[in-house]
Amino acid sequence: MRRLLPSPDAAGSGAPGLSDAELLADAAAPAGTAPFVRFNMVSSIDGVGVLDGASGGLGTPADRRLFPLLRAVSDAIVVGSGTVRAEGYEGELLSPELRAWRTSRGLSKRPLTVVLSASASLPPQAPIFDSNPAPLVVIAAADAPTERVAALRDVAEVELLESVDPGGITAALTARGLRHLHHEGGPRVLRDYLAAGAVDSLCLTLSPILAPGRPGFGIDAPGGPAAPAWMDLHRLYEEDSTLLGDYRPREQHA
Ligand SMILES: NC(=O)c1ccc[n+]([C@@H]2O[C@H](COP(=O)([O-])OP(=O)(O)OC[C@H]3O[C@@H](n4cnc5c(N)ncnc54)[C@H](OP(=O)(O)O)[C@@H]3O)[C@@H](O)[C@H]2O)c1
Repeated sequence: MRRLLPSPDAAGSGAPGLSDAELLADAAAPAGTAPFVRFNMVSSIDGVGVLDGASGGLGTPADRRLFPLLRAVSDAIVVGSGTVRAEGYEGELLSPELRAWRTSRGLSKRPLTVVLSASASLPPQAPIFDSNPAPLVVIAAADAPTERVAALRDVAEVELLESVDPGGITAALTARGLRHLHHEGGPRVLRDYLAAGAVDSLCLTLSPILAPGRPGFGIDAPGGPAAPAWMDLHRLYEEDSTLLGDYRPREQHA
């Protein structure tokens, strides 16, 4: 993998062969105390985010390498219930090496897993609840059906929020002492955060594949179109025609 931006001259890593240590350093949240809200998504060239029911079919070796490194530097891995249903999230989300890397830096062995399920619709039988060894919390709305909340409380911690909008969720996670919040979608969750202007970093992998005839990110999301928002390309890697960008909100578009 090589870094194309910041320019190789400035960053000194234009040649292929970026190490995991360099990628981990790049992935760290900026210094400060404010929460850092990152999303990591993968897309085809033509903007498709789901292939055969999941995002895995869009992944490339470069994406599969960077993805866990972005998880490893975070305090929490946040994911919507639709993605948990589609992709499982069972088992370890980090390799033994990355868990060791975290503990060597004084971090908990595993980031907190946060499942967003406003209506508490995720069934308690979902594999994530009995095979994911990370600490886990389900965030649901205060008015979610009480029987569903009770069923989930048998298998996980459930935090009920009066306001399950992006600001309310980020505030609740920050109140737990978590700062670097790594979101893995899905498209509906991403759309809500983008519409709220609540994304600090969008790490988007553009896989070198065309997938005509499938919906793109957010097209089928409820609520209608949100205002377009310009982003700046903060960082860009390339490997074997996969582009891996880190987009940050542009303060103002001239
Ligand atoms: N290309 C990619 O990078 C990528 C990434 C992730 C997922 N995917 C794919 O996308 C598909 C799933 O995406 P999706 O858009 O249907 O679902 P999603 O965004 O993963 O989850 C949507 C659900 O999350 C909950 N939710 C959303 N906003 C919330 C909020 N503010 N507070 C609390 N809960 C909230 C709701 O759960 P309840 O209904 O339980 O209330 C909602 O139905 C799958 O096929 C997956 O494989 C692709």
